[in-house]
Amino acid sequence: MVASNRELKLSKTKVSLRAVLDKGQYGVDITAAEVLLTNGGKQALFNAALALFNDGDEVITHAPYWPTIPEQVKLVGAKPVIVQTRAEEGFALHPDELIAAITPKTKAIIVNSPCNPTGGLVDEAALTPIVDAAARRGIWVIVDLCYEQLIYEKVPHNLVKVLFDRHRDRTVIAGSASKSYAMTGWRCGWTIAPRDLTSVFNIIQGQTTSNITSITQKAALAAVAGPQTAVQEMLTEYRTRRDNIHAWLTAHPAIKCVKPKGAFYLFPDISGLLAPGTTSTDFAQGLLEKEHVVVTPGEAFDAPGYLRISYATSMEQLREGATRILRYAESLQPAKAGTR
Ligand SMILES: Cc1ncc(COP(=O)(O)O)c(C=O)c1O
Repeated sequence: MVASNRELKLSKTKVSLRAVLDKGQYGVDITAAEVLLTNGGKQALFNAALALFNDGDEVITHAPYWPTIPEQVKLVGAKPVIVQTRAEEGFALHPDELIAAITPKTKAIIVNSPCNPTGGLVDEAALTPIVDAAARRGIWVIVDLCYEQLIYEKVPHNLVKVLFDRHRDRTVIAGSASKSYAMTGWRCGWTIAPRDLTSVFNIIQGQTTSNITSITQKAALAAVAGPQTAVQEMLTEYRTRRDNIHAWLTAHPAIKCVKPKGAFYLFPDISGLLAPGTTSTDFAQGLLEKEHVVVTPGEAFDAPGYLRISYATSMEQLREGATRILRYAESLQPAKAGTR
């Protein structure tokens, strides 16, 4: 992000993020009329769902997914169509599999990169054929880039440019200040979308929540226009946390885990720890009750047998959490786990 304060406009109801979202970051021109600030990335995605999807429409997305994505599709009467990604392939999305899921009823494709919960990425090479296929058929492409600044390795990931070069008139970008700036509670997200669609978003939001609070507008402006060193520092810190918690947990022979490429979640396969007839939900519940550690079971993300562990907490907490998870794992099946 390379904006000066001079380039940013703060109005009574709207902070224009045009300057911070334009050439400096993506190498494309974006006008203020294409940007709307929303109450978090959630509202950004929901404005799009309300504006675009109708009863009977199909909307393709990839799993394991952040549950809000298919739930919003269902809330507006459309049908989520799910394309699986696999742990053994680093949760990479195969463009041909997604394209094969397109039918005459497909209204939109929703891509989340980096992905919550897997940390997987959809890079430029993977997105390009998807966008080309969507452009040929007039299908909308919605890209959730809420974790965009939390990518650990250098990967070509200018998805906005890929979309704008090929399919700008049917593209919606959803962004958020929640993750990069640790501003979840402030509720600031945004859409970048065609001008006409942005006007529709504006009507939807105007008749529901209205603008984001003026306090949040000022805080978000300070975050995006101020020095970005904190974002880089946190990325370095998250990388170390990722590496540590990954190493601590995978020291257990029954825990398998892909190292996430982005976001701040570990998504281990713990199926090897589950006694017959038990689920990762049972595991998460027992872990909470016995060791007071909160994790989200894979069932929430359409991935039974997995757990999602957030490492957006201190190293000390992570070390303690990992110790407790391992202790709980051993208490379940010490013989099988073979760690004694
Ligand atoms: C993949 C993904 N998209 C969007 C969001 C929206 O975040 P917020 O509404 O806090 O901006 C989240 C939050 O967890 C997320 O995980």
